[in-house]
Amino acid sequence: GERADGRPLKQRLLVVANRLPVSAVRRGEDSWSLEMSAGGLVTALLGVKEFEARWIGWAGVNVPDEIGQKALTKALAEKRCIPVFLDEDIVHQYYNGYCNNILWPLFHYLGLPQEDRLATTRSFQSQFAAYIKANQMFAEVVNKHYKDGDVVWCHDYHLMFLPKCLKDRNSGMKVGWFLHTPFPSSEIHRTLPSRSDLLHAVLAADLVGFHTYDYARHFVSACTRILGLEGTPEGVEDQGKLTRVAAFPIGIDSDRFMRALENPQVQEHIKDLKETFAGRKVMLGVDRLDMIKGIPQKILAFEKFLEENPEWREKVVLLQIAVPTRTDVPEYQKLTSQVHEIVGRINGRFGTLTTVPIHHLIQCRFVGNVEKPQGGLHNSVCAKSCILMHSMDRSLDFLQLCAIYAVTDVALVTSLRDGMNLVSYEFVACQDSKKGVLILSEFAGAAQSLGAGAILVNPWNITEVANSIARALNMSPEEREKRHRHNFKHVTTHTAQEWAETFVSELNVTVVEAELRIKQ
Ligand code: G6P
Repeated sequence: GERADGRPLKQRLLVVANRLPVSAVRRGEDSWSLEMSAGGLVTALLGVKEFEARWIGWAGVNVPDEIGQKALTKALAEKRCIPVFLDEDIVHQYYNGYCNNILWPLFHYLGLPQEDRLATTRSFQSQFAAYIKANQMFAEVVNKHYKDGDVVWCHDYHLMFLPKCLKDRNSGMKVGWFLHTPFPSSEIHRTLPSRSDLLHAVLAADLVGFHTYDYARHFVSACTRILGLEGTPEGVEDQGKLTRVAAFPIGIDSDRFMRALENPQVQEHIKDLKETFAGRKVMLGVDRLDMIKGIPQKILAFEKFLEENPEWREKVVLLQIAVPTRTDVPEYQKLTSQVHEIVGRINGRFGTLTTVPIHHLIQCRFVGNVEKPQGGLHNSVCAKSCILMHSMDRSLDFLQLCAIYAVTDVALVTSLRDGMNLVSYEFVACQDSKKGVLILSEFAGAAQSLGAGAILVNPWNITEVANSIARALNMSPEEREKRHRHNFKHVTTHTAQEWAETFVSELNVTVVEAELRIKQ
């Protein structure tokens, strides 16, 4: 529909993120099959009726030929997605290099890469150049699809240059930028060679959003200390031009999880899982296989718990579901073998002929019908976990995950740093009948919102985490109920939909206010 003046009835929202919410598999020269992923952001925006969202991003595959690109563009259009094509060299330098080997670890307080400093310093220059180039490629696609009145919402650390690239092309564009990771203390950010360029580029946006007040405050401090600009309660001011900076904590679509629990298929899975783990308490971890998630620390804490509480050894199981990610980045490969090593050792130490304490499930991603374990690694350890995987149709889908959340007694989220961590939210949404306990890292953004209901831990303190496991397993039903109530209320009232609506309406207001200021 259109208004009389030709403008669309609903405001158009261009969501720009490195990765599109669909994964594409090539079936032939000009045919593609697409699968929509149901991540938080996608469901959040599907739920928002006020605007009409379109996605712009990288499809995650290399498509060197024009026929393939045309066909994929057409297939994606049906899903309201617009692809940005990145060649292999750019992906290597921008995505594997600058984004995931430099910015990601730095923003999570793991520092800049230190091995072979000279090599790192040299490749740093070309990776940064590729980062800017990739951001410009995104900007070109946005520019091509932009119409007056649209809102452009840029996401995450991959696209810090995008606000500037867009405003350089069209200063009248409404541009918001949101960071899904932590923004670190300015003392960390200042170690980055391109620290100022990145800050200036982000400040070109009209509204800059973070998950927590701390991240927003760190960003403002970085701008005042590194760029010498003025921080105000509203944001950052540069020669009379204000960039609004604020916190917008994300949530999940909790209804979707609660509806799923009523699905007969999920009920069936729940029954199976209860049989499989009869007589045992179930502890759960669900993480992308990433250094920031503190997976080795979590498993070592579980080992310490078993060591110190022999009476629990046969009565508890840890399901650690790992999702391989960024497998071309060396740090991620190292982590994968490290986790395998620790899990193997602990299962050797505490396993019996019939059972092991840790079920480490690597959620394979599938390409067509061919199983393609990422990074050349296979589903680990024990026969039982293989049976579990098979009974769950090999890859864990949404319904299976809901069933696992529902049968869990204690969830362990031990991120060393984490922007928000929605696994903790998803667990809470699925626990209204069981009222299990959440052990949550104080370094996850979610600690700000679920802190009163969870047992908060310092994930680096193995003893503290081990003691918290004992405390969680022994917690009285009354205390569990009370803690769960608190978290459940938060998760069901602060939804992803509300998050998206708030950000976009705030962006609209910010732009109107800025126009008024100029007129005055
Ligand atoms: C984090 C980032 C997202 C990213 C996701 C998966 O949540 O904030 O921007 O899409 O990880 O990582 P990947 O590199 O596979 O897109």
